[in-house]
Amino acid sequence: MTDQKIAVIVLAAGLGTRMKSGLPKVMHPLAGRPMVNHLLDTVAGLAPERVVVVVGPGMDQVAHAVAPHSTVVQDERLGTAHAVRQARDGLAGFDGTVLVLYGDTPLITRPCLDAMLAQCRQPARPAVVVLGFRPELAGEYGRLVVGADGLRAIVEYKDATAEQRAIPLCNSGVMAIDGARLFGLIDRVDNRNAKGEYYLTDIVALARADGGACGYVEGEVNELLGVNSRAELAEAERVVQNRLRAAAMANGATLIDPSTVTLCWDTRLGRDVTIAPQVFFGPGVTVGDGVEIRSFCHLVGVCIADRAEIGPFARLRPGANIGEAVHIGNFVEIKQATVEAGAKINHLTYVGDARVGAGANVGAGTITCNYDGFTKDFTDIGAGAFIGSNSALVAPVKIGDGAIIGAGSVITQDVAADALAFERNRQTERPGWAARFRARRSAEKAARKKE
Ligand code: UD1
Ligand code: MG
Repeated sequence: MTDQKIAVIVLAAGLGTRMKSGLPKVMHPLAGRPMVNHLLDTVAGLAPERVVVVVGPGMDQVAHAVAPHSTVVQDERLGTAHAVRQARDGLAGFDGTVLVLYGDTPLITRPCLDAMLAQCRQPARPAVVVLGFRPELAGEYGRLVVGADGLRAIVEYKDATAEQRAIPLCNSGVMAIDGARLFGLIDRVDNRNAKGEYYLTDIVALARADGGACGYVEGEVNELLGVNSRAELAEAERVVQNRLRAAAMANGATLIDPSTVTLCWDTRLGRDVTIAPQVFFGPGVTVGDGVEIRSFCHLVGVCIADRAEIGPFARLRPGANIGEAVHIGNFVEIKQATVEAGAKINHLTYVGDARVGAGANVGAGTITCNYDGFTKDFTDIGAGAFIGSNSALVAPVKIGDGAIIGAGSVITQDVAADALAFERNRQTERPGWAARFRARRSAEKAARKKE
């Protein structure tokens, strides 16, 4: 740790036209949360004194997503320097290091930011440290003009000479700037350039003209991917998923085929968890130690205790609380229900708004009928109860501990502990009926053929 004071400006006023979306670009999710929140999470590790997010008009959703950080509205989109200028009030009196980040470039990592901040602390005390990179296709990125004495200028592609366009070192847009000099530089940026915009990149040449030093750090291409289209969003998702999978495996989970497991930013997996191919984790999933999750499970908002076995083909919805060593089998849906230790719900079942007591066995095809079209009601299944196959438990209803429900029953009244309850017609049997039926029908068929 150093005593370097840090403030962060996130530029997020862009319209994201190419996303063709009603949602502001930085609100598009990666691994289940807005991309801007990934970025804010990374900078949170630096314990910044202040964070200001620059948004466009009407981007209330962004303001909500980044709270409690402050947002400032850039009414007109006049360029990156103009955007940074909007943060002036928020940064009044701040003389530490100001990091400028783009909300649509959310994959940057902490080591990369650390390298930039370290360079700001060098004896030369650079006014600006720029994060450069060497993309495969340099395209229309700004180019870093570097001399023996460090970074001299950034030239925007549209304003660059052919010689400058041949420079492979590009501007990622990320900068670390001396807060004491930042707004003095910004105030002198003009818009006399090919785009008629106020370029933040111009502060490098301005700082040099003042006799200040400027430097750069080279970052990894895959950290600096900008999201401008749905295709780039998918590319960024792949990067985030790979990081989450690597972290899960590093923490002791086995992912049999990692590329087919979709994790969420907040997925928590214990040790010796095994995840088979094709499993989806939505937000809010916590998995204990030694849990096995088989293929084609979909989990959102659930807590799974140690040694449970889930799936294949299980759907665990918000509020599912799965106890130790519970077995949840194929085509089972659990919602807002606690399944206590050792209970088994192995096939073709819906359990919603319920408790399933410890060691209970819920047979194939059981349905908790929790909804009458108006209210949701609760089903309470006692410890050690046995629910026969194809039973409908019409809530509100309580099945006592150790009770047995006969298969095919529609249970509408509470059942006492250790009782047998069933609800079905008495079985009728007619000896020899089937054989006589077949003989008669065969004879009729033979007679028709002869005609
Ligand atoms: C910018 C850089 C360029 C760099 C490239 C990297 C400038 C002048 N150029 O170009 O050197 O190679 O990024 O991707 O800085 N924004 C606002 N308000 C504005 C303008 C932009 O908030 O008025 C935000 C955008 O939402 C975006 C970021 O700033 O997140 C960059 O803006 P963009 O228009 O994409 O800049 P580029 O032309 O790509
Ligand atoms: Mg851009």
